[in-house]
Amino acid sequence: MRAMVYRGPYKIRVEEKDVPAIEHPNDAIVRVSLAAICGSDLHMYHGAMPDTRVGMTFGHEFIGVVEHVGSSVRNLQPGDRVMVPFNIFCGSCWFCARGLFSNCNNVNPNHYAVGGIYGYSHTTGGYDGGQSQYVRVPFADVGPTKIPDWMSDEDAVLLTDAAPTGYFGAQLGDIVEGDVVVVFGAVPVGLVAARSAWLMGAGRVIVIDHLDYRLKKAREFAQAETYNFTQYGDIVLEMKKQTDFFGADVAIDAVGAEADGALLQHVTAAKLKLQGGGSPVALNWAIDTVRKGGTISVVGAYGPLFTSVKMGDLMNKGLTLHSNQTPVKRQWPRLFEHVRNGHLRPSELVTHRFPLEHIAEGYHVFSAKLDGCIKPLVVPNAT
Ligand SMILES: NC(=O)c1ccc[n+]([C@@H]2O[C@H](COP(=O)([O-])OP(=O)(O)OC[C@H]3O[C@@H](n4cnc5c(N)ncnc54)[C@H](O)[C@@H]3O)[C@@H](O)[C@H]2O)c1
Ligand SMILES: [Zn+2]
Ligand SMILES: [Zn+2]
Repeated sequence: MRAMVYRGPYKIRVEEKDVPAIEHPNDAIVRVSLAAICGSDLHMYHGAMPDTRVGMTFGHEFIGVVEHVGSSVRNLQPGDRVMVPFNIFCGSCWFCARGLFSNCNNVNPNHYAVGGIYGYSHTTGGYDGGQSQYVRVPFADVGPTKIPDWMSDEDAVLLTDAAPTGYFGAQLGDIVEGDVVVVFGAVPVGLVAARSAWLMGAGRVIVIDHLDYRLKKAREFAQAETYNFTQYGDIVLEMKKQTDFFGADVAIDAVGAEADGALLQHVTAAKLKLQGGGSPVALNWAIDTVRKGGTISVVGAYGPLFTSVKMGDLMNKGLTLHSNQTPVKRQWPRLFEHVRNGHLRPSELVTHRFPLEHIAEGYHVFSAKLDGCIKPLVVPNAT
């Protein structure tokens, strides 16, 4: 089969690999019909994700058709059209029993740090991902769900990560009626978070980024007020002015470890690697932007190591901070209803579709933010 293969930072190839085989009775093999490239893939592409091994196939957002199932699989059959959450999880450990699917204890030798994720380095278990013609899906009775007939492929593939993560970002903000919600990152995750904030009762939704074409999308897709942080000497001060020097109620960090906006943070994190967990610019802006007693939601990804987060301000302002990798399947029942009723149409975020053979171009365009790129898809079995 043909598969995307990582050959080192900024080196993406398409190579021949063996079609994966059933390794456990509860595995399925899925023929991928559509995959996506996520901002999280860029952390690996840039060489910023620990233990990303040469030869690995990325891709944790994908849908497809079941090709084979192991002998104990009961919920799926060959021919089923399925969507697969980006988390690999067992469904029965202490954490899964509490809905903490992204914190499953049984799917990653590094489980104290993070759960299992497809195609996202050996830090998250070393599983090959779905930017490929075929993928092995462990715990096939637990994660995948048959795609409802009324759902389009492009909505379904965005429901495997970007959309549930945005929705989860808003949920982690504990939004109550009338809240002022500030979202950092006019990214797929941030745009869905902003849209979801309205669904949860926000009174005002603000999105901050430095790419004007993405801020335009935030106005159209999420009806948000937008601010380009490069146009203000101090974006935190501007947010204070915007909130009568009170502060926002909730801030959502949908940027994560590779944030721009503060040169010293960027150099110490991205260049000198003195901050192993990444550059917390967006997180520190979030801490400074909310009022005392406010809530911070972090769905942007950070590494496990040291970063200079403003812990003192977080503590002295009495802030609540919620964070996690998204337990995708937990978000599906409500999100399916929102998509079906037209309250949310994640496919509106898709800007590019690349055949698998051209995936290197897809990474380049997405990483360099060229050609108005917001969300690129990958078509592995294009004729
Ligand atoms: N928690 C989860 O389960 C989960 C799931 C998916 C993605 N993620 C993470 O969410 C983040 C967003 O991913 P994506 O694919 O939606 O986006 P992306 O990587 O395409 O975009 C990053 C965006 O942040 C903007 N930005 C940079 N610095 C900023 C700053 N200081 N303030 C405001 N905006 C800034 C950039 O201009 C860009 O638009 C990534 O860190 C990704 O790893 C987390
Ligand atoms: Zn992702
Ligand atoms: Zn589990």
